[in-house]
Amino acid sequence: MTTAGDVRVGIIGGGLMGRELAAVCGRWDLLVDHPARPRVVAVADPSPAAREWFDRVDTVTLATDDWRHLVEDDGIDVLYIAVPHQLHEEIYVAAAAAGRDFLGEKPFGIDLGAAERIVGAIDASDAFVRVSSEFPFYPGAQRAWAYAASGALGDVLDVRSGFWHSSDINRTKPINWKRRAETCGELGVMGDLGLHVAHVPLRLGWVPRSVYARLDDVVTERPGPDGSPVVCDTWDNALLTCTAHPERGRDFTMLWETRRIAPGHANTWYFEAVGMDGGVRFSTREPATLRRFSVREGEQVWEEVQPGNVSAWPVVSGAIFEFGFGDALLQMWAAYFAERAAALGERFGTATPHEALMAHRVFDAALRSQRTDSPQSP
Ligand SMILES: NC(=O)c1ccc[n+]([C@@H]2O[C@H](COP(=O)([O-])OP(=O)(O)OC[C@H]3O[C@@H](n4cnc5c(N)ncnc54)[C@H](O)[C@@H]3O)[C@@H](O)[C@H]2O)c1
Repeated sequence: MTTAGDVRVGIIGGGLMGRELAAVCGRWDLLVDHPARPRVVAVADPSPAAREWFDRVDTVTLATDDWRHLVEDDGIDVLYIAVPHQLHEEIYVAAAAAGRDFLGEKPFGIDLGAAERIVGAIDASDAFVRVSSEFPFYPGAQRAWAYAASGALGDVLDVRSGFWHSSDINRTKPINWKRRAETCGELGVMGDLGLHVAHVPLRLGWVPRSVYARLDDVVTERPGPDGSPVVCDTWDNALLTCTAHPERGRDFTMLWETRRIAPGHANTWYFEAVGMDGGVRFSTREPATLRRFSVREGEQVWEEVQPGNVSAWPVVSGAIFEFGFGDALLQMWAAYFAERAAALGERFGTATPHEALMAHRVFDAALRSQRTDSPQSP
């Protein structure tokens, strides 16, 4: 039975992220008074094992090996497309051409050309499309964004936005599609982690005007399916020194740092911005703490704020409880479905296709910078 607010969701790509969405929908009742109620009704994946996983989701009535069935199915309201990067362009363009609303995974195309064609197809359609980026939905990150957006920083001096993890610190970890340029893209770690780092600065209107990049391919081969070494030809770590050109005010320095091999960091997303009058720091390494700087009566004060479990979309669990990765995904999806229902209001929205395209322009400049050892314009 369909009730008001029901949204029928089809998942294209039932791997890690496709399963995460099924789990998010399973705990949707955590949200209080949300305008939508998503139900996963279909999955498309060529892998039988991936499709079989969805047997446990009792709302799923269609499991197919062909994504076209979902794009063409009028019984589906929203698609979540979470496939390897070389498939983004074909599937996203087809979904947009069919006028299908979707949330597409980053990087939104394997390279800049693919991203331009995807965004062109979306702009030419009526489809409501957003891009996945969940870390800014941590309560501390939301408070950091709101503080920076309020103008409390004064003249901005220094911004650092980064994502460090160590998924690849083990040199004997077998190769997979994310570690090969053919399927991940030449941009490597910037494609995997870059939009997570770009989302908040771009939302604040801090657009890089020039980029000087140092890219590092740390582990150059990994065991293949039969154990023998296979070339691992994507960048593992990337440090981008940008000159940011804000809509108002002076240019300033901004670092975007993405690392797959960051010893000592399991999964750390952070955002820091400091200006003449104020500053803010948040890191998922200390998710219960937001740090704020201000000048008070001539004294420079860094203070700790406890953002708790007070998220943009209210939840039934207590305001003092801990917030985690699954909660950030739930909040991101809450923002997506609310914006689709014209109910986002002043809240922070999921990344837009044009933000993903701008991020691609920066990463393309970074690749040129690495080749020429000089700053490049996005
Ligand atoms: N937002 C995040 O935090 C986050 C985290 C990880 C990955 N991602 C992104 O999600 C996307 C998928 O990554 P993943 O980690 O889920 O990968 P994954 O390898 O776990 O899953 C990808 C799935 O796509 C399926 N697939 C392959 N070809 C297909 C086709 N033609 N049609 C339909 N399905 C097909 C595979 O069989 C696999 O099950 C990528 O764009 C990646 O960058 C986002």
